[in-house]
Amino acid sequence: MTAITSHVRSLARSRAALASGRRPRVFTLAGRDWELLDEVFAPIHSPTTRVAMELLDLPAEDAGEGERRDRCDPGEVPYRRHGTFLEIGSGTGVIAVSAALAGCARVVATDINAAAVRNTAANAARHRVDDRVSSRHGDLFAAVGEEERFDTVYWHSNYVLAPRDYRYASDHERAYVDPGYRTHRRYLAEAPGLLTEGGTALLQFSERGDLDLLRRLADECGRTLRPVRRRRLSEGDESIELVLYEIGVADVPRTA
Ligand SMILES: C[S@@+](CC[C@H](N)C(=O)[O-])C[C@H]1O[C@@H](n2cnc3c(N)ncnc32)[C@H](O)[C@@H]1O
Repeated sequence: MTAITSHVRSLARSRAALASGRRPRVFTLAGRDWELLDEVFAPIHSPTTRVAMELLDLPAEDAGEGERRDRCDPGEVPYRRHGTFLEIGSGTGVIAVSAALAGCARVVATDINAAAVRNTAANAARHRVDDRVSSRHGDLFAAVGEEERFDTVYWHSNYVLAPRDYRYASDHERAYVDPGYRTHRRYLAEAPGLLTEGGTALLQFSERGDLDLLRRLADECGRTLRPVRRRRLSEGDESIELVLYEIGVADVPRTA
């Protein structure tokens, strides 16, 4: 394990982000104001949410057309602009609400952290897209109806690997580490099944994660991983690459 991938350091970042004085009630990101509740992943302590928006090509309120074109890698827009969007792990709701503001017809946001569900609903109301954003409490796809399908399924995941037997000390830690990648494995296996015809399942991953293990799990589940876009960012004094992967279904699935 390198310093970058250390779950111990990631959990220390989680604790630091909860420290008093580091959590304004309202923060500004991508030119918009957002409410922040206790115990919810705060996009102000790491640039990953903002970069995730860029990788998804979700427009910021403060970005002109030219700036957006320069900022994003060339290639296809990774989500269907006027389609339906499922965000797993919505946190404060910045991505789910931005997808609705960008024109998505229907957005479902789920999070295993009940405070994040309330936070996403509050920000959907604040930005007047609560008619199009449904914020639900549940583990991965548990709050998604059996018949519901989406043009885009997306998770900006807790990509740092923790030991299989690690027990979360708070809901907030769920934003940072995944013990044994159990949740990643289920996401890889289940996300493609939630898609409409021609839809796209996406995973926002990072150099802080264990890409070799992720690839092994994908292989076991009969899934492929295709990097769609990547971006290097600075977190403190570390340089980290974020990569947006498309999850595909392998031609010849292997048994798990
Ligand atoms: C890195 S945070 C991203 C939050 C938000 N999307 C953003 O970009 O600011 C990961 C999110 O995934 C959520 N999460 C972790 N495990 C989950 C699970 N099993 N089901 C649903 N959400 C989960 C966490 O609670 C957290 O809100």
